[in-house]
Amino acid sequence: MDLLGISVRWPIVGAPMAGGPSTPTLTAAVSRAGGLGFLAGGYLTAEALAQQIAEVETLGVSSFGVNLFVPGNPEVDEGALDTYLDSLRPEAERFGVEVTPKWDDDHFSEKLELLIGHPPSMVSFTFGCPPSDVVARLQDAGTRVVITVTTPAEASMATQVGADAVCAQGIEAGGHQANFVDDTAPDAGWGLLALVTAIRHETHLPVIAAGGVMTGAAVAAVVRAGAVAAQLGTALLRCPESGASEMYKAALADPRFTWTSTTRAFSGRRARGLVNDFMRAHPDAPSAYPHINNATRAMRQAALARRDPHATNLWAGQGFALARDRPAAEIIAAIGAEFDAVTT
Ligand SMILES: Cc1cc2nc3c(=O)[nH]c(=O)nc-3n(C[C@H](O)[C@H](O)[C@H](O)COP(=O)(O)O)c2cc1C
Repeated sequence: MDLLGISVRWPIVGAPMAGGPSTPTLTAAVSRAGGLGFLAGGYLTAEALAQQIAEVETLGVSSFGVNLFVPGNPEVDEGALDTYLDSLRPEAERFGVEVTPKWDDDHFSEKLELLIGHPPSMVSFTFGCPPSDVVARLQDAGTRVVITVTTPAEASMATQVGADAVCAQGIEAGGHQANFVDDTAPDAGWGLLALVTAIRHETHLPVIAAGGVMTGAAVAAVVRAGAVAAQLGTALLRCPESGASEMYKAALADPRFTWTSTTRAFSGRRARGLVNDFMRAHPDAPSAYPHINNATRAMRQAALARRDPHATNLWAGQGFALARDRPAAEIIAAIGAEFDAVTT
């Protein structure tokens, strides 16, 4: 079938998952299995991203996407940021690390130039709306441009800058919420079906649906609701090709982790993960991304080294209990077969 001009067997996109889980082998495995694999450009330098693109191509895969983070506003509430960081210092001392906030643009321009010079099948953006000239330059290079949105208003803005499609991300989704501005209340997020439906009524753009989709029946449900595909992240987190740490993979299957919630505690931007002690200890954190993300990095890495799942982020969507430790190709084939069974 056709996904924005790209040939796929099933309407399944493998979500970009920055910070380790996305690997060239996972991306290639998803594309080879009949979906569209994605590389996560977030947190990488342009050189590291170029290396990952080359690895996917070396694996003989030419249809795949690359995701970038749109840089946010360096201006934040400094008083609230300082107060929050002070509250983290006892934990940081326990791990013997510093808490140092820093804004950065995630090497956005360099990675953009890389992708314009070496265009992948699709480029998706998260955390903001790129300007129309960025969208046009990528399209002129031959890439479909997808903008991740969390509200119908954001979908309208994506239409105005000329995107080829939107990725509608529901509140069920694992990882960071893509809100253009992270200023909404914790209970204000749109559920996926309501969001896809509202966007389909308000814009003409194709919609890729993300958030809590774990089965072929759920892929069929969002397609019936008007989406052109579903984007799955958590469903692939435990597979051997995922670069998630063994501790993180084990936590996803550990019955002691029973539910997910959204939090700004680790990064300063709302994200959904398994509820652990750190999240419980810090129920409120200001909107300050990537300042807080950079401030907590050393502590999160130290927690990982000590195999302590309670002081690091364990991003996961609401459907995490259905994530399987199976090769990515088997997961895609099983979800695809179920999609076929309920749609034919
Ligand atoms: C560990 C993890 C990392 C993620 N990183 C990114 C990212 O770098 N860029 C992005 O656009 N979305 C990212 N997401 C969100 C996914 O694109 C997608 O919205 C989400 O996985 C869908 O919900 P699900 O996890 O319930 O399938 C991430 C999700 C997870 C679980």
